Amino acid sequence: APTFRKDYREPDWWVRHVELDMDLDPATTRVRATLRVERNGEHDRPLRLAGDGLKPVTVEIDGEKARSGMEGDDLLVEMDRDAAQVATEVEIHPDRNSQLMGLYASGGLLCTQCESEGFRRITFHPDRPDVLSTYAVTMRADAEKFPILLANGNLVEQGKLDDGRHFARWEDPFPKPSYLFALVAGDLKANRDRFTTMSGREVELNIWVREADLPRTRHAMQALKDSMKWDEEVYGREYDLDLFNIVAVDDFNFGAMENKGLNIFNSRYILADADSATDADFDAIAGVVAHEYFHNWSGNRVTCRDWFQLSLKEGFTVFRDQCFSQAMTSEAVKRIEDVRVLRAIQFPEDSGPLAHPVRPESYIEITNFYTATVYNKGAELIRMMHTILGPEKFRAATDLYFERHDGEAATCEDFVRCMEEAGGVDLEQFRLWYSQAGTPRVKARLIRDEKANVARLQLEQTVPDTPGQTGKAPMVLPLKTALLSAQSGREIEERLILFDKAEDEIVFDNVTEPVILSINRDFSAPVIIESDRSDDELATLAAMDANPFARYEAMQELMLHSLLPAARGEEVPPADPVIEAVRRTLNDDTLDKALKAEAIRLPSEAMIGERLEEIDPDQVHRARSTLAEEIGAALGTELVEAQAIEAAGDDLSVEAKGIRALRREALGLLAAGEPEEGARLAKALYDRADNMTDRQTALMILSGLEAEERQLAFDAFYERYKGNSLVLDKWFALQAAAQRPDTLERVEKLVDHPDFTLKNPNRLRSLISNFAANQWAFHHSSGRGYALLAKMVIEADRINPQVAARMVPPLGRWRRYVPDRARLMKEALETIASSEGLSKDVYEQVSKSLG
Ligand code: ARG
Ligand code: ZN
Repeated sequence: APTFRKDYREPDWWVRHVELDMDLDPATTRVRATLRVERNGEHDRPLRLAGDGLKPVTVEIDGEKARSGMEGDDLLVEMDRDAAQVATEVEIHPDRNSQLMGLYASGGLLCTQCESEGFRRITFHPDRPDVLSTYAVTMRADAEKFPILLANGNLVEQGKLDDGRHFARWEDPFPKPSYLFALVAGDLKANRDRFTTMSGREVELNIWVREADLPRTRHAMQALKDSMKWDEEVYGREYDLDLFNIVAVDDFNFGAMENKGLNIFNSRYILADADSATDADFDAIAGVVAHEYFHNWSGNRVTCRDWFQLSLKEGFTVFRDQCFSQAMTSEAVKRIEDVRVLRAIQFPEDSGPLAHPVRPESYIEITNFYTATVYNKGAELIRMMHTILGPEKFRAATDLYFERHDGEAATCEDFVRCMEEAGGVDLEQFRLWYSQAGTPRVKARLIRDEKANVARLQLEQTVPDTPGQTGKAPMVLPLKTALLSAQSGREIEERLILFDKAEDEIVFDNVTEPVILSINRDFSAPVIIESDRSDDELATLAAMDANPFARYEAMQELMLHSLLPAARGEEVPPADPVIEAVRRTLNDDTLDKALKAEAIRLPSEAMIGERLEEIDPDQVHRARSTLAEEIGAALGTELVEAQAIEAAGDDLSVEAKGIRALRREALGLLAAGEPEEGARLAKALYDRADNMTDRQTALMILSGLEAEERQLAFDAFYERYKGNSLVLDKWFALQAAAQRPDTLERVEKLVDHPDFTLKNPNRLRSLISNFAANQWAFHHSSGRGYALLAKMVIEADRINPQVAARMVPPLGRWRRYVPDRARLMKEALETIASSEGLSKDVYEQVSKSLG
């Protein structure tokens, strides 16, 4: 049965303090929990404690046996007093916990993941985010296997016990919800460092990993210190404990977790060196380290009242980490990357059967709502408020928010109210962004009135229907807009237009020459713009617009002018305008290389499909590869030159990363146009590369070619890295993403490879999720791609429902495809739906997808 936002009620009982006593052992861990509870208001309802697969061994009130019973998985305790110490004891089995929620074993470690509802797999507890308590944890474990014992807060006591065991006691002085609880036990070594906060607090920093991995923690440590400094400078937020621990684990359902004082990370977001990690990996590490650190304020000090408010912490924290990365690397390139992710993942979600508002109204399984909508569109909402208020007022508003709600469980509404009060703006209509799902579409037409010396910008917006939501009201769209001289490309005027009606006309005065429209600069509103700009106008924008994001955007539109008709099977316009624009971009010495790389990159097949009413995956593939071939054949000389620039492998500067990114794009186009030359250059690159970025580029190019160098390079790569599971993930991922006709068959075989396993989420995703994202291969006309995904979902569901459920959405898009594919996709969903013993995680995704 779904849970509804409108049903929120305060808890019947508060838990002021939690005392945990744990005898840790992988096979059987005994957990004794003592909760100091207090009745909330006047009522005579029992104390309801959530459990998930737990059986109470004892239940006591103030030291005496309690009257209690089970209702489903919940424990009900009869209460004859307003305040009491309620103690329970349970036994759990970490080494049998394949869901990786609660306390589980990973590579010889014991660790926890509690968000959202994992704490109830460790002990009986209300396990809802509006119940905040202080925690004290006593852990006992084998001293040899688990020499390091960590939990939230501060270590207050430790010592030896009999029979080779030892203990540690940790206390966290900050009241927190149960989802932020964490512990780790294992044989770990720390990269140790220090940070002095702005008020002079000395903080000990540790990144805990296996000893052999210590050299690969340097980048993460630097990112942590940079994040701490940035949050002080930009938000005035200081760290609040004397200790900050990070632990990397190999088996982890998500990216990382912001547990108070003890962040736990998927090792892929900690471990990196130039030999084994790409530039993208390094950037992702910095972004995730920052994200989790920033949660200490946006998430932990101020948490969420209920899970419908998830975007309160996630949208805001993603916005914060995006801005951090923009500041640390390149503002424009990072923005382009974030917009690409939004369009590739969130836009499809918003136009499919799983569309939901940033603040959902109901869920069956909350884990299914850790989505691109809640995270990335949520971040766009915060960014729009930042744009509307301006940086100073935005800062005043976040100051107010942190001060007013410190130590509380807050709502999205609380956040918006702080923006209104400190920003002095009315955000009544803006709130629709939280409640209305669907990506708004804007039609923009610029008409110059030569007699009156004005230009009129005519705007129309529509918000599409989504499941359960029709007839939507117009939203507030902040559109950063400029007019450029059609002659010189000079910027005439930039304005922030707040477009908040179904239709509007904006008049620009004193327009005395032909002008071009540059709209939604920096992607100031997360919408789809449909403009009637000509190829010539787009080419001018691509070459001249002072706003780098707008230049990129103009290139994308120009490419789509050629790609969309081809993808629809219509007559294809000549590729000359695109070829000329790419040539001009490559020859433009004022553009930095990372931007060049972005600008010459063709829209992905997923992105092309997103702009079509009905997707024929073969036609989309042909359209894109044909354009790439034409560009590659026409611009051989320029591309060879662009891909040949060298940079030292361990140089992580923006310039060096740009050189490698440009090499990837240039070589890709070249290989499309001149496959033999492409293969030769890619093989040479593979052999000389001193870094993983170039090595991956070389393999990616070779993977799409019919060249004997391909198999040799993949075999060499496997031999070299078979001991490094994060790199082995890349080996699987590259083969799953390969643009070749036999990718489906290869993936079908790789499922039986001895290194493939459904138990490790990274490995599962590296093969299966990358395959499902490979439009051409996944949508093979036989339907075998769909059948393979369905089989994997069913098998993975028995092991790890959360991870299995996240693999369903590619099938959920069936309505958008040509009839034969749609039918086969739907059949695959039906196969999953009819399989026995489905988790509610997968059930929710599949039933909504079938609609
Ligand atoms: N709060 C974590 C983060 O954003 C993610 C936790 C994911 N948990 C889940 N149940 N989906 O960094
Ligand atoms: Zn987060």
